Amino acid sequence: MNDENYSTIIREKNDIVDIIGERIPLVKKGKNFFGVCPFHDDTSPSLCVSREKQIYTCFSCHATGNVFSFIMDYEHLTFGEALHYLGEKVGISINGLHLKQKNSKYQKYYDIYDFTVKYFQNNLKSEIGARARNYLKERKIDDKIIKEFQIGLSLKNKDDLTKILTLKQYDLVDLNKIGLASDGHDIYSDRIMFPLYDISGKVVGFSGRVYNGDKDNKYVNTKETPIFKKGECLYHYHIAKEEARVKKNIILMEGFMDVIRASTIGIKNTIALMGTALTNEQIKLIKRLSNNIILCLDGDEPGRKAAYNIGNIFLKENIEVKVITLPNDDDPDSFILKEGKDSFLSYIENALNYNDYKIKVMRENVNFNSIEETSNYINNVIDEISTIDDEIRIEIILKKLAKDFNIGYNTLEKKFLNKRGEHNKTKAQNIIKDQQKSHKNKYQKAIEQIIYFMLTNEWVISEVDRANLLITDENMRLLVREICYYYHTYGKVNIADMITYLNDKEKLLIKLNEILYSSYSDQVDKETLYLYFNVIKDDNVNKQIKVLENRLKNELDPIKQAKIGNEIRALRIGDNRNG
Ligand code: CTP
Ligand code: MN
Repeated sequence: MNDENYSTIIREKNDIVDIIGERIPLVKKGKNFFGVCPFHDDTSPSLCVSREKQIYTCFSCHATGNVFSFIMDYEHLTFGEALHYLGEKVGISINGLHLKQKNSKYQKYYDIYDFTVKYFQNNLKSEIGARARNYLKERKIDDKIIKEFQIGLSLKNKDDLTKILTLKQYDLVDLNKIGLASDGHDIYSDRIMFPLYDISGKVVGFSGRVYNGDKDNKYVNTKETPIFKKGECLYHYHIAKEEARVKKNIILMEGFMDVIRASTIGIKNTIALMGTALTNEQIKLIKRLSNNIILCLDGDEPGRKAAYNIGNIFLKENIEVKVITLPNDDDPDSFILKEGKDSFLSYIENALNYNDYKIKVMRENVNFNSIEETSNYINNVIDEISTIDDEIRIEIILKKLAKDFNIGYNTLEKKFLNKRGEHNKTKAQNIIKDQQKSHKNKYQKAIEQIIYFMLTNEWVISEVDRANLLITDENMRLLVREICYYYHTYGKVNIADMITYLNDKEKLLIKLNEILYSSYSDQVDKETLYLYFNVIKDDNVNKQIKVLENRLKNELDPIKQAKIGNEIRALRIGDNRNG
């Protein structure tokens, strides 16, 4: 049996209404069940669960999915973990089952990395590693840490690793491809090697640190490879994943040395950015871990700036953000070494809520002797708190401002209420703008409706196959292709399984979700279907005409002009409509 079959069986045995109902109260209304959506701040029952289709959709935040996606998002699990959990529930053990890994075609690369890790570890333990071991000892990295984080050493002789790997029959082309060699030479020479892991804990790269102090680059990291995506790298993610569930929050740091140090004092719900700017992929990954994030970046100016910016980004993603500000010349690593565990724990305990942090930062560099700067500051603070939803906090902040600057509370409150009014107005305007943006044209609606029909009426699939529609939107075209492929491979198709199937094709999954919460009809006959086909065909013709008209505009040769004119006329009459 293949993996698709296993996931289908596990999905079919876990009724989505039961699984969601175990977690949030559902009320039956007509064919569907309704509850308060757990994926956004809400009090009204906007989550709709369909027993018939085995999917859920939230009409407010547009969360959509099947039983797997619900468990993944609700319990912060990966797909494999959700499959395991739901499998166990219905007596299907997927232990020992060789589940198809998304990347199994890269197994050879993982094997090379596993070997290389051991090789580097041996170097560090051997005589030649004495100096590196000494460096680590001076940095208070003991043998236990070295073992836990699989720290190793690359050798000065430039070709050692490459030689051994080629002796083991690995291909030079592969070694180049995965960032271990270049033109037959080792990439890493005489550096302390820290393995980098992907989100499931497989080694997919290295960061090599100088320890002799004689090179320009402090760290050399593996280049982007088929298995190492820099934008998705978060050091320690696979460990933090487990810890975050217990601690209910996640601590974000700048460097992996910080994470390693925190681990030595038992704080393991930490991940590190590895010196890159935060990417959208990383945001998504972090959201899977927890909705509470504590920023603990370096205490220097760049670290503070980063905390300010990253905090804003997370806030927009509806994540609760707190900020720890370390002393100016410390990072978590140096701070923990100097001040110890208890001191660091109390910094975590006293982390500032992001809004408070922002207000504190605004205060810095204001010259309170200047009337203008002071009033600017007060206005900025009021501006800032106009987005806060907590009346008590707002009152506390306003009272403090009134006291600090000896201004009447009523004056400040009046100002605040004005600001909040403006803020609410822009918020409403943005919502309207979003709605206008998502206002789809006739063509888009037709293709979305056709896709929905394909998923709810299997006979539509062969009609679509036969009609040979030219779908210009790439994601829609791919989605249609995937549905046809799925149907021809497994002999059936439904929405819930399609969601699982598209699990690693994110753009298509987003498209599918968009279609699902748009409330399309699932009742269709041939005649109606052909009307939708014609919308697509007409749209194609119109696009062709537009192209020709543009060409006509720029054409100087009258004979060619006439020819293009004829083509346009033919298209208008509809000669090509059935061709
Ligand atoms: N980094 C990098 N290349 C550099 C400097 C930094 O790739 N030349 C990345 C590393 O992943 C590092 C992170 O950025 O973990 C944070 O950098 P930094 O704060 O300078 O590193 P530290 O953790 O302080 O490292 P160390 O204590 O060893 O100096
Ligand atoms: Mn450091």
